[in-house]
Amino acid sequence: MIQLKNLLYLKDLRKDEINQLLDLSDHYLNSKSSHEFENLLKNQSIASLFFEPSTRTSASFQVAAKRLGAETIIIDEKKSSATKGETVLDTIRNLEAMGVRAFIIRTGDKDLFRPLINDVGPDTHIISAGESSISHPTQGLLDLLTIRQAKGAFEDLKVIIMGDISHSRVARSLVEGLDIMNTRNITLISPEEFKPEMSFFPSASYEEDPNKGLSDADVIVTLRVQKERIESSESNLSLEQYSDEYQLSEDKLELCKPDAIVMHPGPINRGIEISDRVADGKQSVILKQVENGVAMRMAVLTQILN
Ligand code: CP
Repeated sequence: MIQLKNLLYLKDLRKDEINQLLDLSDHYLNSKSSHEFENLLKNQSIASLFFEPSTRTSASFQVAAKRLGAETIIIDEKKSSATKGETVLDTIRNLEAMGVRAFIIRTGDKDLFRPLINDVGPDTHIISAGESSISHPTQGLLDLLTIRQAKGAFEDLKVIIMGDISHSRVARSLVEGLDIMNTRNITLISPEEFKPEMSFFPSASYEEDPNKGLSDADVIVTLRVQKERIESSESNLSLEQYSDEYQLSEDKLELCKPDAIVMHPGPINRGIEISDRVADGKQSVILKQVENGVAMRMAVLTQILN
């Protein structure tokens, strides 16, 4: 069994550690009785601190903790003493004093996690629920789980990530994970405006033209345009122009392999990066990703806390 203290970046994990998390998630999903796991984290307290909005990640960590028998403390940033100037470290130290052992944190602050993991107590665990445009490790893991369930293995796949890649923590974590699993063909598709710094994606290739990039793809991950992270001066591209050229429509999906799967981390902006018919179509595994998110977060919590 692997022993993780914190989970911040998938690049910190080994292939066997990722495989164990995928296997454990499948085990939770295939179990006939949810009661089997309900005492695994009995009497453990987990705090959830989200400094950026979330629906899926926040809810699925809560569901995962409850299924394992843990207590969850939700700190609502807007109603907490953070509004009075308390630092994240002081918040953690106070919750540690109450017996909380794990902290699930989403932040837009790129400088929070590295010092934080050295400043918290030796028995305290930090799990990233999303860090600015840098990392979203549990999303990367649930994406790997969804791909493995559909395709069996990673090495020979052509995986496309299409959309606003420059602002995407999901793309960064997924590519870190795919690299570790030895996926040979990872192609990023975006307009020039959303082309990422390619040194963050050393194994991936870049293509501006979706009609070229999508051909023969096995997996297509579509990404939302992150309006909240785009400076008004940064992009001249209108959403209308963007959706005309980059929306995953039925026509574009036909360029991919007939058994290609369509993924999206959510939230979806319907009619912009993906059409309704593709998002809700038979090749979409978007809600399967959400279901897998609970099992993967159960696996992460178990491996870290148990
Ligand atoms: N995929 C994801 O992180 O969604 P939320 O922002 O709703 O948590």
